[in-house]
Amino acid sequence: MMRTRLIAGNWKMHKTVAEAVEFVNDFRQAMPSSTAIDILLAPPFVSLFAIHQTMTANDRFTLAGQNLHWEKEGAFTGEISGPMLKALGCTFVLVGHSERRQLFGESNADVNNKVNAALEHGLGPIVCIGETLEERDAGKTQAIVKDQLLKGLSGLSAEKVSKITIAYEPVWAIGTGRAATIEQAEEVHTFIRATLTSEWGREVQDVRILYGGSVGPQNAEALFGCAEIDGALIGKACLDPATFAKICSLAVSAST
Ligand code: 13P
Repeated sequence: MMRTRLIAGNWKMHKTVAEAVEFVNDFRQAMPSSTAIDILLAPPFVSLFAIHQTMTANDRFTLAGQNLHWEKEGAFTGEISGPMLKALGCTFVLVGHSERRQLFGESNADVNNKVNAALEHGLGPIVCIGETLEERDAGKTQAIVKDQLLKGLSGLSAEKVSKITIAYEPVWAIGTGRAATIEQAEEVHTFIRATLTSEWGREVQDVRILYGGSVGPQNAEALFGCAEIDGALIGKACLDPATFAKICSLAVSAST
């Protein structure tokens, strides 16, 4: 079975609209044209419109939101809904990033609501899960990851789960320069795959499991060499067009 690798750039809270458009113009020049991988940009909401305006059918990347609210509209000051993201050309949306969980109090129940909303509005949810250093040191990695997975995807049919992407992002590896080793990532990815299969069966065997946490040109090749790793969710290293393009090229090399 072959899953197309997905390389996703999570810009977090970086770049103004003008900087975002400049990035995209530069990235178009530098990125690989291969169709062997999928490429996703997740800029801040305020830049989605301007980037979408520049896009053509020839573009080899698509857009994602970094978050969404579970209602489609209403009195939710400061929030953005699935239909709004869809109307701006988004195909995917991040759900439950560890920064949302840790800094903004998102629970597994919130993640579940958001996953349902994303699917309802035709967006592919990229569900982020991962343990803290304290949890890893206490030997709780698998228990935490399983809990986040089962609660975040609670009540979903196998058909719906088959449309989801999982991003395993150990919290201790995010923005620290201390990526998980290939063995550490492989072990958890294998566990996530086994958990998905035992809960939802073979219908979910093509769910992509991305790794995130200090991915850069220095470790991307080794990560993409691992059969369990279906791509990467990238923070810091996606902010520079040449660096992000380099990582995409390494994914192409690993896929062809
Ligand atoms: P870094 O690549 O900066 O470690 O961030 C990872 C991340 O959180 C992507 O969502």
